[in-house]
Amino acid sequence: MKTYKIAAIPGDGIGPEVIAAGLEALEVLAKSDGGFRFDVEHFPWSSDYYLKNGFYIPEGGLEKLKTFDAIFFGAVGSQEVPDHVSLWGLRLPIAQGFDQYANVRPARVLPGVTSPLTGGQEIDWVIIRENSEGEYAGNGGRTHRGLPIETATETSVFTRAGVERIHRFSFELARTRPAKHLTLVTKSNAQRFGMVMWDEIFFEVAKDYPDVRTDRELVDAMTTRMVLKPQTIDTIVATNLHADILSDLAAALSGSLGIAPTANLNPERQFPSMFEPIHGSAFDITGKGVANPIATFWTASMMLEHLGQPAAAARMMKAIETVTATKLHTPDLGGKATTAQVTKAVCEQLK
Ligand code: NAI
Ligand code: MG
Repeated sequence: MKTYKIAAIPGDGIGPEVIAAGLEALEVLAKSDGGFRFDVEHFPWSSDYYLKNGFYIPEGGLEKLKTFDAIFFGAVGSQEVPDHVSLWGLRLPIAQGFDQYANVRPARVLPGVTSPLTGGQEIDWVIIRENSEGEYAGNGGRTHRGLPIETATETSVFTRAGVERIHRFSFELARTRPAKHLTLVTKSNAQRFGMVMWDEIFFEVAKDYPDVRTDRELVDAMTTRMVLKPQTIDTIVATNLHADILSDLAAALSGSLGIAPTANLNPERQFPSMFEPIHGSAFDITGKGVANPIATFWTASMMLEHLGQPAAAARMMKAIETVTATKLHTPDLGGKATTAQVTKAVCEQLK
C-alpha cells in the first residue's frame, strides 16, 4: 500500500480547527479507499510558538519538511504578532524556500451555495498566482528610521525565468480545462517595466499554445469584469499581489472565503508542495466551532490530486458537493451548522 508522508502545520486561529477536520476526512477517505494511507506528522509552528521561542521555524526545520510528500497548512497570523512578521516567519519561507512558484486558486459556486452576484452561479474560474517573486520578493528597505526624512522602498522583482515558467504553467493548466481560455492580468499601463515584460513574455509563450484562447485585462478592469461578466472568465494568470487580491474577491463572489482552497505548487517536484485554505486565522470566530471546513476539504482534494490519487480527489469533491447541496452550512454561508457537523456529514459521504 502506498504511504504518503504529510506534514501538518495547523498554525494560528481557526487553522488548528480546520486542519483537524481536514485530516479526519482524509483518514476516512484513505480507509475506505484501501489503496493508500497517510503518515501525518504535526508541526507546532505558530505564533504562540514564536512568542515562546523567538522563531516560527526552528533550525533545521525546512530541511526536515523537505522529506515529506506534501504540506497541509492551516493559517498564520495573530493579534499578538505584526502580520508582516508572522507571514515572513512561517508561510513565505516555506513557499519561497521550496520554490512553490505556482499558486493555484480555483473558484466555483458549489451546489447549494448562493453567490452574492445575480447570475453568479456561472463562476468557474482558476486563478494562477505567481508565488515566488514580483511584489512579494521582499526587496526593499527603510532608511532614516524615525526621522522626518524616513524613506521606504518596496521593489517588485520580475525575472524572465520566473515570468516564463508561470506563464507556461498557466497555459498548460488552461489547456486541461473545457474552455481553454486564459486571461492575462497586469497593470502594464502604469507600471512600464516589470509588467510590460510580463505581458511580452505571455505572448511569446502563447505561440506554443495555439489551442488556448487568450485575452488580457488590466487588474482594475478585471475586478469589474469578475462582478459584471463572470461568465466571460475561465483561467487567469496574474502577479503575486494582483492574484492575491483577485482570489479573495473570487472567493467572496463564489459564496465565502470559508470554501476557497489553494495549492502552492513546486511543479518540478524538487520540493514538497503546500496545500492550504486561502483564508487566514479568522480571529472573530476562533474557538467558536463554526469555522467552515469546506475550504480545507477542497484543499485536501487538491493535495490528493497532486499526490497522484485523482479518483480519491474526485470522491472528496463529490462528498463536499453532496453536503453543500443539503444546505448544511456554517454561518459564513448563512447556515447554523458547526464545523463538527459539516465534518461528520462529509465523512459519512466518504465512508
Ligand atoms: P481572514 O481570512 O482570517 O478572515 C476574514 C473574514 O472571513 C473573517 O470575518 C472570518 O471570520 C471569515 N472567514 C475566514 N475563514 C473562514 C472560515 N473557514 N469559515 C468561516 N468564516 C471564515 O482574514 P483577515 O481577517 O484579513 O486576517 C486575519 C489574520 O489571518 C491576519 O493575521 C492575517 O495576516 C492572517 N492571514 C493569513 C493567511 C494565511 O495564513 N495564508 C491568509 C490571510 C490572512
Ligand atoms: Mg490573500
